[in-house]
Amino acid sequence: MMKEKLLSDLKSRQAKIGIIGLGYVGLPLVLRFGEEKFKVLGFDVDPEKVRKLNSGQSYIRHIDAAKIQDLVAGKAFEATSDFSRLAEADCVIICVPTPLTDKKDPDMRYIESTGAALLKTLRKGQLISLESTTYPGTTEEVLLEKFKTTGLVVGEDYFLVFSPEREDPGNARFSTRTIPKIVGGTTPNCLEVGRALYSSVIDRVVPVSSTQAAELVKLLENIYRCVNIALVNELKLLTERMGIDIWEVIEAASTKPFGFTPFFPGPGLGGHCIPIDPFYLSWKAKEYDFATRFIQLAGEVNAGMPHHVVDRLATALNDRAKPVRGSKILIFGVAYKKDVDDVRESPALEIMEILKDRGAEIVYSDPYIPRLHKMRKYDLSHMTSVPMTEELVKSSDAVMIATDHTGVDYQWIVDHAAMVLDTRNACKSVTRNRDKIVRA
Ligand SMILES: NC(=O)c1ccc[n+]([C@@H]2O[C@H](COP(=O)([O-])OP(=O)(O)OC[C@H]3O[C@@H](n4cnc5c(N)ncnc54)[C@H](O)[C@@H]3O)[C@@H](O)[C@H]2O)c1
Repeated sequence: MMKEKLLSDLKSRQAKIGIIGLGYVGLPLVLRFGEEKFKVLGFDVDPEKVRKLNSGQSYIRHIDAAKIQDLVAGKAFEATSDFSRLAEADCVIICVPTPLTDKKDPDMRYIESTGAALLKTLRKGQLISLESTTYPGTTEEVLLEKFKTTGLVVGEDYFLVFSPEREDPGNARFSTRTIPKIVGGTTPNCLEVGRALYSSVIDRVVPVSSTQAAELVKLLENIYRCVNIALVNELKLLTERMGIDIWEVIEAASTKPFGFTPFFPGPGLGGHCIPIDPFYLSWKAKEYDFATRFIQLAGEVNAGMPHHVVDRLATALNDRAKPVRGSKILIFGVAYKKDVDDVRESPALEIMEILKDRGAEIVYSDPYIPRLHKMRKYDLSHMTSVPMTEELVKSSDAVMIATDHTGVDYQWIVDHAAMVLDTRNACKSVTRNRDKIVRA
């Protein structure tokens, strides 16, 4: 029987693993399966990534090139853009992007094209696992529906699961192996094989009763973050008026040993997940004539934050008899969060756009982001990071800390700047010249 064969091949490490989409999610999985002595075949539509991986290079800062080199040298890993080779893999894991369209609807074209490629190669004995974050129903409505046309029977001939990724780039406390993994299968056999796949590389695998439940687990996790961040962002707007320090309040509330999880305000949401994933659920909810009001409200509050930060800057400049137009603004940190080399959906980009529209002269400095590329929404592609020299800081009308990278001497910045707009409480330990700091 197909199931027994696959279970035994997983146990003996004979099963070959295929991973589609070799980005922030797919690449750590490649390494994890490689560490456990599986042979891994990676698929990506980007030939440059394929070339770099096959020559042992990493393109993600926190992923060590030496680990890729070891796998490539040991013939345990190979990357390819040849999707006909999908048939070689016994287990195929899909980690392709799930962004939004301009109208904030799910952009399913990556999952659709992956499904179309798999349709050509699906064979008896394969397990397909979707990991891309998406709305409940995707695995069965998009993939299963396509695969039905092959005549192969799910749960008997091949197996289908959804298992959401929980990667937290840059978090040193947790690794792919130690973050518990949720799995839901289309049938009980699918779930059994899916559990066996992930149990071979992850310490704790948590089964749920369906692919739809597994899909919603991931969305709940991110909606929870999105809504709670919106809550503290709204409280920040209020406390600014009341003259209360929101950071002090959150830190004090965090001493409660039960029932309170701290979330922190900021210049807006960033990253591939939290600004995007909630809209996958609101879109699907419309099919059920249901309005997801918390998501809507959180979206409104969070989307307003970059504008709020710019307004605070404008007021602070005004207090110094300066207009925004013509002012020299140095943005420090454009990554979407500290210590990562990822600018996707970063609020710093929106802040720069708004400031540009208002006529400010902007430059940015970020040790992790040497240059900006054209993105879907923004064209800041001519910009490159400038070094934080004393001369630059002194000659700027304001320095805005948009991302609080660690290992930075914020006291030095405050000492030399005319004014520092701090959106992340990065200057909390600064003792001198605190009158130059504006919280936003
Ligand atoms: N980055 C995270 O921290 C994170 C965390 C949890 C979940 N996710 C989810 O995981 C999924 C992937 O995110 P990511 O951050 O790894 O994205 P990414 O952009 O870093 O990587 C995706 C990769 O897929 C490739 N690709 C695009 N279309 C393809 C196709 N049709 N076939 C093969 N490869 C293709 C791209 O070239 C890229 O290398 C998304 O659904 C995301 O929401 C990401």
